[in-house]
Amino acid sequence: MTSQTIPVEPFDFIVFGGTGDLSERKLIPALYQRQRAGQFSEPTRIIGASRSKLSSEEFQAFARKAIDEHVQEDDRDQAEIDKFVARLSYVPVDAKSGDGFPELATAIGDSEAIRVFYLAVAPGIFGDIARNLHGCGLVTPFARIVVEKPIGRSQASARELNDAIGQVFGEHQIFRIDHYLGKETVQNLMALRFANNLFEPVWNSAHVDHVQITVGETVGLEDRVSYYDRAGALRDMMQNHILQLLCLMAMEPPASLDADAVRDEKLKVLRSLARINGNEAPKATVRGQYKAGASSGGAVKGYLEELGNDESQTETFVAIKAEIANWRWSGVPFYLRTGKRLAARVSEIVIEFKPIPHSIFGEAAGNISPNQLVIRLQPDEGVKQWIMIKDPGPGGMRLRHVSLDMSFADSFEARNPDAYERLIMDVVRGNQTLFMRRDEVEAAWAWIDPIIAAWEENHQPVQNYTAGTWGPSASVALIERDGRTWHESA
Ligand code: BG6
Repeated sequence: MTSQTIPVEPFDFIVFGGTGDLSERKLIPALYQRQRAGQFSEPTRIIGASRSKLSSEEFQAFARKAIDEHVQEDDRDQAEIDKFVARLSYVPVDAKSGDGFPELATAIGDSEAIRVFYLAVAPGIFGDIARNLHGCGLVTPFARIVVEKPIGRSQASARELNDAIGQVFGEHQIFRIDHYLGKETVQNLMALRFANNLFEPVWNSAHVDHVQITVGETVGLEDRVSYYDRAGALRDMMQNHILQLLCLMAMEPPASLDADAVRDEKLKVLRSLARINGNEAPKATVRGQYKAGASSGGAVKGYLEELGNDESQTETFVAIKAEIANWRWSGVPFYLRTGKRLAARVSEIVIEFKPIPHSIFGEAAGNISPNQLVIRLQPDEGVKQWIMIKDPGPGGMRLRHVSLDMSFADSFEARNPDAYERLIMDVVRGNQTLFMRRDEVEAAWAWIDPIIAAWEENHQPVQNYTAGTWGPSASVALIERDGRTWHESA
C-alpha cells in the first residue's frame, strides 16, 4: 500500500539559520524528499539566509552534502538532486543590524506565492527577524513564520517571545513546531482513539489504572553544551514533547480535526494538570544525571566529563508522577519519564487497564495480568494489545498473557517519512492542527514553572545513574511506591 501525494501550491521557503545543524540534518533532506515524492508545484524556491557570507553556489554545495549525508542511499537520485539544488539561492543577513534584509526582499521579489519564513535560529533573535521582515514589507497575507523550541525558559519568557512575533504575524500565521506531533505513530494515536469505537468507552478512570509515557534516548550531550546545560530534561523534553503526547492521549474527543478544535481540547488537558508544589516535588519528581557507563555497546563518559564542568546540577533525566484533575482522569496517575544515555532509544505510551473485578479461575490457572495497550512511537512503530488467553492444549485451564502485535513496519510498505516532511508541507498548506497555539505553550510552562521553582527552593539534587541504565533508583521507587512498575521498554 502506498500513500497518496497531493501537490501543494508553489511556495518560497526562506530558512534563517540556513547553514545550521537543523537545516542540514532535517530541513533540506525533508524538502528534497517532498520534491522527490512529487509534492512541489512550480515555481517553488528555497532561500538560505544566515550570517555566514556564502554565495548561492556554496549554499547549493552545502545542500548536496546534506542530502548525501542525511538521505539514505536508495532515495538519492542524481537528476532529482540537480533539480532540487537549482531552486536554492542564498542571501547573507544579520538579524540584529538588519543588514541583508533589503537584499532578501529583492531576492524574493514581488512574488505572491506562499511564503514560509523558517526560523532555525536561537530564540533570542526571533523578535529581530520578525521586525526586519516587517520593515522590508515581506510579511504579506500569504506569509507564515515557523519557530522551533525552546519557546522560552518559563511562562514569562515564552510570553515575551510570543509577543515579539505576535506584533508582526497573526496567530494564524505562526507555526510553533513540536516535531513529535509530526511523527507517524503520534498521529496514529488520534486514529486509534477516534477512528475506532473500541477504546473510547474504556478510556477513563473507571477502566484505566494508570498511564506511562517514556521517551528514552541513548545519546548524550552531543554537541549542544551551551544549550543543554541551561535547559535540562524538564525544559528540553517534558515541557513540549511529553506534554504533547500526554495531551493527545488524555484529551476529550475534538468535534473535528480542525486545528482549533484539537488545540482547544489539548489546552483543557494542560490546564487540568494538577500543580506540583514545593511540598510535593520531592515525592512526585525525580531528577537524574548520568555518570560514566556503557551505551550502544561502548564505554561512555559521564555528563560532567562531557561538559567539562564538575559543578553542573542540570538534570539529564526526569521522572514525574502527574495527575489530571478532571472528570475523566481523576485518580489515574500518569507516570512520565525521559532521559539521555538510557538503556534504549524508545518512545512509548503504555495504558494499563484495571485488573478484572473477580476471577472465576482457580489458582492453577496462574496470574491474571491486567490488559495493557502499548503504543510504540519509535523505533519499531506499532501498537500491542496485551490480553489473557488460554494456554493452548488439552489438560487444565491455564492462562497466558500474550500480545496482539501490530508492527506498522511489517504491515505497510510505505516509507516512514520524517516528521519534518509532514510538518513543512502542513505549513505550506496552512494547516495548524499539528502545531502549538500560543496559549498551549504558555499553559505547558504554567505547569512546569512551579516544578522548577520547587527544585530550586528545595535544592533538590540530581541523583546519579549509570549511563546505559533506566535512570536513578528513585525513578523506580516513584512508581513502585504505588505498587506499580515501569513497563520493560527494551
Ligand atoms: C529535541 C531535543 O527536541 O528532541 C533533543 O532537543 C532530543 O534533546 C530530540 O534528542 C529527540 O528527538 P527524536 O525525534 O530523536 O526522538
